Order: sequence, then C-alpha cells, then structure tokens
Amino acid sequence: MTSIVSNMFDMVFTQAQLATLSPSIKAPYGLIDDGAVGIKDGRIVWVGPSDQAPKAKITHALGGALITPGLVDCHTHLVFAGNRADEFEARLEGVSYEDISRQGGGIMSTVRNTREASYDGLLDLARGRVARLKAEGVTSLEVKSGYGLDLECEIKMLKVAQGLRSELIDIETTFLGAHALPPEFDDADAYIAFLCDTLLPKANALGLVDGVDGFCETIGFTTQQIERLFIKATELNLPVKLHAEQLSDQKGARMAAGFKALSVDHIEYLQPEDVPAVKQAGTVAVLLPGAFYYMRETQLPPIEALRRHDVPMALATDFNPGTSPILSPLTILNMGCTLFRLTPEEALKGMTLNGAKALGRDREVGSIEVGKKADMAIWDVGHPSELCYWVGQAPLINRIYQGALDRA
Ligand code: NIG
Ligand code: FE
Repeated sequence: MTSIVSNMFDMVFTQAQLATLSPSIKAPYGLIDDGAVGIKDGRIVWVGPSDQAPKAKITHALGGALITPGLVDCHTHLVFAGNRADEFEARLEGVSYEDISRQGGGIMSTVRNTREASYDGLLDLARGRVARLKAEGVTSLEVKSGYGLDLECEIKMLKVAQGLRSELIDIETTFLGAHALPPEFDDADAYIAFLCDTLLPKANALGLVDGVDGFCETIGFTTQQIERLFIKATELNLPVKLHAEQLSDQKGARMAAGFKALSVDHIEYLQPEDVPAVKQAGTVAVLLPGAFYYMRETQLPPIEALRRHDVPMALATDFNPGTSPILSPLTILNMGCTLFRLTPEEALKGMTLNGAKALGRDREVGSIEVGKKADMAIWDVGHPSELCYWVGQAPLINRIYQGALDRA
C-alpha cells in the first residue's frame, strides 16, 4: 500500500480486480485481488487492498470488475481519407503490396485522397475512429502523418492529430514525411533533403511534432536516407522511431538503435543477432499483428530472441487503410497471442506499460501506480486474460481519463 496525500480523495474505486501492471508488484499482471485505487486532481494517489481504502468524496464499489491501465495504442496512421478495399481484393487475387506500390497505388493512393480532403473532413473521420478506440479503453494514442508528403498536407494532418486532443485522449504526434516518395520528386535523396531542410523544421517550429518516424524498405527509403533524417531529428531534439524490417532486412533497426530510438516497429525480418543492439539502446520492439495478418505474412518477428534479451515488447493496432484496417485494440491483443504466441500478460503489458515506453510516456501513463495519471479502464471480466480471449464482446464498462469517468 502506498499513499502520497492524507486529505480526502476525489474518488476511490473499491472491490476491483486491479491489474496494475506495476513492475513492483510481483503477481502476474501486477494483480491485486479485491483492490482499490484512489484518485485526486486527475492522478492516482493510493493503491492497495479494498479493506484499507481511505475515504473519498465519491466511492464506486465495483463488485469484482477488472481495472487495468488505460490502453496505449502507440502506432497508428489514424488520419487519412478514403479506403483501399480495392487493393485488399487485388492482394487476395495474388498481386503483392510491393507491386501495388510500384504501380502508384498503396500509400500514394491514400496520399491523393488525403490531399484532397479538408481539415474538417479529416477531423470528422478521425474523431469517429477515436470514438471506436475509446470504446475499447484507449486513453493514449500515437498518430502519424505520412499521407501528405508535401508541406501543406503534412501540416494539415498533424493539425488534425492535435485537434483530437479535445476528445479526452492523450495524443502523441509523429512526423512520417519519409513514408513514400511523392510524385513531385523523382529523386529520393532530394526529397529527404527537402524533409530535413524545410518540412520537418517548419512542422516542428509550429509545435506539431513529438517524434520522427520513417519507412525503411525497398519500397520506402534506404537506411542511409533515414539516417540523414534522424540526424536532423536529433538536432531538433526530437526522438525517433522506425518502420523497420517489415518486408525485408534492411538493418534499419540497428541504425535506429544507434539513435537510441524509442521503438522499432513491425520487425518481422529483424535477425536475432541484431536484437542485442535494440536491447542496449533501450528501444522498444513494437509488434503489429494486424499488418502481419492482413499481409498474410508468414515470417514471424524474432519473439524468442526479444524475450531472451528482455527487450520490452509493445503491441499496437497500426490502424491504416493499407495494411491494418483494424480499429480494435482488443482484437490486436488476441492476435498478439494467437499469431505471435505472446502470453496474455505480455500482450496486455504490450498495450499498456510497454506501449507507454514506446512513446517515452511511461513515467506518466501505462500502469496503475501512485503519481501516474489516473487513466484507466473498467472491464466486465473476471480476469485480465479475458481481454485477450474474447473477440467482439465489448467488455468495457467505463473509461477513466485524467480521473474522470466517461459515463458518470
Ligand atoms: O505500418 N509500411 C508502411 N506503413 C504502413 C502502411 C501504410 C499504408 O499501406 O498505407 C504500415 O504498414
Ligand atoms: Fe505503420
């Protein structure tokens, strides 16, 4: 039991199964049976057994419902217009993602739609999507740019992402200008120079960028090109992360580790011998089973090596119109277990504490610990493993964001 204030709390939840995910509680999931959590001024101020819970202005006795940290979706491309169901059909008929991309479809198809869309139109679409994520307990969300690829549209996307901050959810914005080569450029090096000299500094000066990402791939950018972008990001004091080793081994994760990247994401083709470099850099391995599933990929990420080297593993939706049109973090938890053989505990940690780590936010969110933000989810299940087990059950009872319930 821990406490940092003695005066009366704003709210206390009692009679809960508390999956704290706190590393200092040794039980699986950091579980406290019949636990209580006290909130004051939007922060967690007390965690312990129900029978010792202090008095509060409002007490909610939960009758055994589960409380977890709010879910953290640390990798999404949530702002875009249009959809790519036509490519989904083509891929099922055997056309590859790479071929679609080389023929001007794929990411470029979404770029065309997103450039045409207005700020308000994009914000409307994004708001609807955020509502779905919140309905499954998400309280922190990363949103990337990368469907603009020019000054005007990249900035529009980042502004839309920030516009989502009024939706009672934490938003981290990521600059993904290095997602694909836009039609205005026929030279990838010249485009990277434009990103480094113009687009990224301008977007950053407007306060729109929390981090910098790139797509390091044969159909994206080379490791050396991304490295130039990361040098610029570092100059601007921005943390980096990378779409690495999704379709082939480009040694992108190794390069990103050299910049102490927050995360390397996808990593199906990461070689086990490159895992120690990721560990040493303190970089999180972000696993994206939704993209693995939609791409009908068969190469699994090096989960055993990641475990052996104790690399923190996160799970995210990668919500996007091309490779992962899945707006369901709970389905992703299930896929993390069924497709990648994560344990349900690893999966849930991946979408809470380690998701927060992947955003550099784990001192603030990601677990139920005194001092952190009171962002939590209340579920109608008896045990945390059920969050990975059911698909389509909508078990969320309520969401707590900065100490306030969505539904009072
Ligand atoms: O995470 N691989 C690059 N980026 C996305 C897909 C983007 C798209 O196809 O629109 C991903 O898989
Ligand atoms: Fe992605």
